Amino acid sequence: MCGIVGYVGNGIAKNAILKGLESLEYRGYDSAGIALIENDHIFVEKKKGKLNNLIEALKEKEINSNLGIGHTRWATHGEPSDRNSHPHLSMDKTIAVVHNGIIENYLELKRFLEEKGFTFISETDTEVVAHLLQYNYTGDMKETVFKTIKQLEGSYALGIIHKDYPEVLFCARKNSPLVIGCGNNENLIASDVPALLNYTRDVYFLENGDIGILTKNNIDIYDINGNCLIREKTHIQWSLDQATKNGYPHFMLKEIFEQPKALRETINRMVHEDNIGFENILSREELEKINKVYIVACGTAYHAGLQGKYALNKISKLEANVEVASEFRYNDPFIDERTLAIFVSQSGETLDTLEAMKEAKSKGAMTIAITNVVGSSISREAHKVIYTMAGPEIAVASTKAYTTQMIILYLLAIYIGKNRNTLSKKDLNHYLNIINEIPNKIEQELKNKEEILTISKLLVDKNNGFYIGRGLDYQTALEGSLKMKEITYIHTEAFPSGELKHGSIALIENGTPVIVLATQKELIDKSISNIKELKARGAFVITIGFDNENLRAVSDKFIPVENIDNIFSGFISIIPLQLLAYYTSIGKNIDVDKPRNLAKSVTVE
Ligand code: F6R
Repeated sequence: MCGIVGYVGNGIAKNAILKGLESLEYRGYDSAGIALIENDHIFVEKKKGKLNNLIEALKEKEINSNLGIGHTRWATHGEPSDRNSHPHLSMDKTIAVVHNGIIENYLELKRFLEEKGFTFISETDTEVVAHLLQYNYTGDMKETVFKTIKQLEGSYALGIIHKDYPEVLFCARKNSPLVIGCGNNENLIASDVPALLNYTRDVYFLENGDIGILTKNNIDIYDINGNCLIREKTHIQWSLDQATKNGYPHFMLKEIFEQPKALRETINRMVHEDNIGFENILSREELEKINKVYIVACGTAYHAGLQGKYALNKISKLEANVEVASEFRYNDPFIDERTLAIFVSQSGETLDTLEAMKEAKSKGAMTIAITNVVGSSISREAHKVIYTMAGPEIAVASTKAYTTQMIILYLLAIYIGKNRNTLSKKDLNHYLNIINEIPNKIEQELKNKEEILTISKLLVDKNNGFYIGRGLDYQTALEGSLKMKEITYIHTEAFPSGELKHGSIALIENGTPVIVLATQKELIDKSISNIKELKARGAFVITIGFDNENLRAVSDKFIPVENIDNIFSGFISIIPLQLLAYYTSIGKNIDVDKPRNLAKSVTVE
């Protein structure tokens, strides 16, 4: 979490940094700040709240600086406030620092620096870096940066400037993402590529332990011992348009509507007739060795994992387990060389998932990353990577990443089934035909948006709600409930339909909304009984299912979905749930792309 940007070049640093921060706000928006070298001193402005507050504060200020750093914050150490905002200055105000990550030994360093007479004005871990740089300063900033980085433990992407080096931008990375953009008479750093695209498409993805020294015409990358490194330049293919709203009022709506395209691109890249191109990911020999699969992820990616487990069990007949990444290490998972461990992460930077991957690797598992971000930490740590072709996902609430993660897990299940001979040729073709149809079916689903908008109006005044489903529908209910709570602040919980009566049904009152998922054809009668139980206690029931007279008759509102084989229904039934959450959020006037307390990329444990 947190986004950093830095600029050195012939242009106006302030403009480049503010523009870059705009596209990084998804990484946190508790506060924003900027530091610029101006006439021999460092100018700093920082403001609590969203980036706009900083932009407003800077409106009247002409600062013709060519070097600076900026930051958008998701608070970890210290409440959101002007004081805790980055950049942080050294005590003598010669050095400014922006940081994404957590300095784990900051208390120890802080005590040491306090003994040396340094005083701290913020509660952040980052301020120690600024003071430590001042303490270590030898008159040679390059030497000082190397010495200081060696003393830091934890994770960091750092941007550093010194008032006596008005043409040099220093940076360093460990376990937090950092990209260098190579421009024309200008170079930049940023936490993520969209912040660079106004200036360049040629980038270096820094590796853990890299330290960068940038001037307007030169980029040097070193390891921690000062050895010069050669890093491969990457040319970014996707356009800035793909990372902008493109006429939609919000990124979330745009991304919901991009799902057919994202899925088509993901499928087309992987599937050629009846061949699924995973030979380089899992060879036949590797497949023969594997006897168990773990899928590990957080939040929405975890929910995609639950659907993937279902597909692996049903389609490839392989034992699959799903674990929340932050809990993985504490559960003593049974992992050995015969385990395939799959890590799912849109950002590829989620620290919980990254640490879980390291644990699985250390126990001998073969690891595969499923991620949306090329060059991300998780993609680099894994033995093999499969990229979702979703394009940049900006809204904090994940939508298109979820369905593209699911499609890859389903394709993996089919590929494994085919190559382990647990799937007949007939079933293989049947499943691939369905996969190819999914984007069209989602397109149809999206046409129901007006009806869902109308239903959402019945939810805006509610404080609580429930989502229920059986089998695969329960897994989809979990994701529907998460979407609703994170962007509407309505407290919702998902239950297996049969479980509600074992206690939680006590919470149902007159008018309590219950969203029922009923797409599993052989379970419809049971769902109808559950709906009746709920109705008898006053619940307001909204049912999502394949068109069925009886279901329609018992529900207060019925949202029919496109017919599809039971095993694949999660791709279809999630669409109305995403739309329902979106429109409810809009109805409540919430900043749907940036809901409170959240960040898109969670790089703390
Ligand atoms: C919810 C959401 C989060 C993420 C989770 C993992 O809409 O987006 O629950 O799914 O933080 O993030 P990634 O996939 O980047 O590892």
